[in-house]
Amino acid sequence: MAVLAPELAEAARRLFGERLDVAAAYAELLATDGVVRGLIGPREAPRIWDRHLLNCAAVAELIPPGASVLDVGSGAGLPGVVLAIARSDLAVTLIEPLARRTAFLEEAVEELGLTDSVRVFRGRAEEAAVGSDAVPGDVVTARAVAPLDRLVGWCLPLTGAGGRLLALKGASAAEEITEHGEAVHRLGGGQPVLHRCGEGVVDPPTTVVEIVRERIVGPSPRKPPKKSRSRRR
Ligand SMILES: C[S@@+](CC[C@H](N)C(=O)[O-])C[C@H]1O[C@@H](n2cnc3c(N)ncnc32)[C@H](O)[C@@H]1O
Repeated sequence: MAVLAPELAEAARRLFGERLDVAAAYAELLATDGVVRGLIGPREAPRIWDRHLLNCAAVAELIPPGASVLDVGSGAGLPGVVLAIARSDLAVTLIEPLARRTAFLEEAVEELGLTDSVRVFRGRAEEAAVGSDAVPGDVVTARAVAPLDRLVGWCLPLTGAGGRLLALKGASAAEEITEHGEAVHRLGGGQPVLHRCGEGVVDPPTTVVEIVRERIVGPSPRKPPKKSRSRRR
């Protein structure tokens, strides 16, 4: 059972508003089916609300109204499903390569009544960049998927110029920015900005690295093929 501790109830109400019951149904799904199917570790069950739902929902404050959001490496739906619950104005695409996980995601989306606003794309981010009609999105999210340099390489192509990556990171965020700043710039990203989301609501606040796609960089266009010489004179 995913029990919402009394000390977290106010934060949950503020972040999920009138959809708190949908959030509770998702928490229950993660703590039961999610654990049985190996998507969430059994030790996570008692801390689903604070470490997963509230932590992810806090990021909604960085997402503009009506945005299309692509969540790369959703796993069991974090943060994508949580954002879709907290913000009914968002159009969310969950990008996940593993069939076992996309099966769970599809069932969860159906069960939670989110089919109008959430789609599931089975594949890697690199495949979604060329194979999903949800691309380009306004915002790309990712939590616990890869180091910043790899993440930027996968995620910036999913958005257009001016679009943004929001990478949910732990204590290593500032270190990662220093370590991968050069790669971020080379891949077309602007100066990474560190945010603490949910200040005064969730404890600790969620650390997010925001990177805007400032320049479109990619492989240079191939040379046009040489004209074949006509045999006819
Ligand atoms: C550690 S899990 C994190 C899942 C979820 N975001 C969370 O915070 O619980 C990393 C997920 O990223 C997915 N993944 C790895 N490489 C990927 C890629 N190139 N494109 C999309 N997803 C990827 C994996 O299949 C896995 O589900």
